[in-house]
Amino acid sequence: MAIDYITDRRQEALYQCFLRYRPTKQGHNYLPIYDRYFSPIRQDVRKVLEIGVQSGKSLRMWRDYFPNAEIYGLDLDPACKAVEEDRIRIAIGDQSNPSDLAKLPTDFDIIIDDGSHIPAHQINTFRYLFRHNMNERGVYAVEDCVSRPTTIKWFKKLADHVNYWPRGLSTREWPKFNSFDRIWATAEREHLIRNVLGVSFYRFLVMIDKGRNPEDGTAAHRLHGRSGQTTKAASS
Ligand SMILES: C[S@@+](CC[C@H](N)C(=O)[O-])C[C@H]1O[C@@H](n2cnc3c(N)ncnc32)[C@H](O)[C@@H]1O
Repeated sequence: MAIDYITDRRQEALYQCFLRYRPTKQGHNYLPIYDRYFSPIRQDVRKVLEIGVQSGKSLRMWRDYFPNAEIYGLDLDPACKAVEEDRIRIAIGDQSNPSDLAKLPTDFDIIIDDGSHIPAHQINTFRYLFRHNMNERGVYAVEDCVSRPTTIKWFKKLADHVNYWPRGLSTREWPKFNSFDRIWATAEREHLIRNVLGVSFYRFLVMIDKGRNPEDGTAAHRLHGRSGQTTKAASS
């Protein structure tokens, strides 16, 4: 029997939460994809941010789906403050303004960008929040990348850099082998190189997994008995 797990997972918990509020996400078929990413971590997620609140339908859906999480929403429209209720917090601000982003918590497990959908906003909001406002592990989603090749093109470039690990070299050497926008400050480039585990493309939707490569950072200690260093001997 064929299992159409991308397009038909109507029996799943996220779909049941969707039915209570009916945000537009189901229309774009994002829910089965979100469920694939989120169902294994559903009980563990503590903080979620969605950019774009509107009437609060999706925030309420996430609140029901993640029983142990606080759900934050960011929106330009001050009227969205009225959406605040149990486990839902609203910040009023502009996603294209870094000083508004800087006021948000810094420990999100999941960030979903369903705000302006302007490519420059999608890219720059990711560049800021992924580095400054997420936990070491997490999932970042960019919705509605519709007819906007700029956003897709940028994230495709990011995907080119997932295989950043030249075997046998110290982790300190890795950034030298990466060409990702050399005009960027080294610290930003290095953060992306080291913390993007994967980039996935779906229809209108980009998903980015945040985490450390097992050969890098604290995980290296567990794998190789040393911290942050992978020598030729240790990695072969
Ligand atoms: C598509 S709606 C969000 C729908 C909601 N996430 C849902 O699924 O129920 C987009 C929202 O983004 C907000 N928005 C537009 N531009 C923004 C910006 N630059 N910064 C923050 N929010 C913005 C709009 O005010 C609008 O409420």
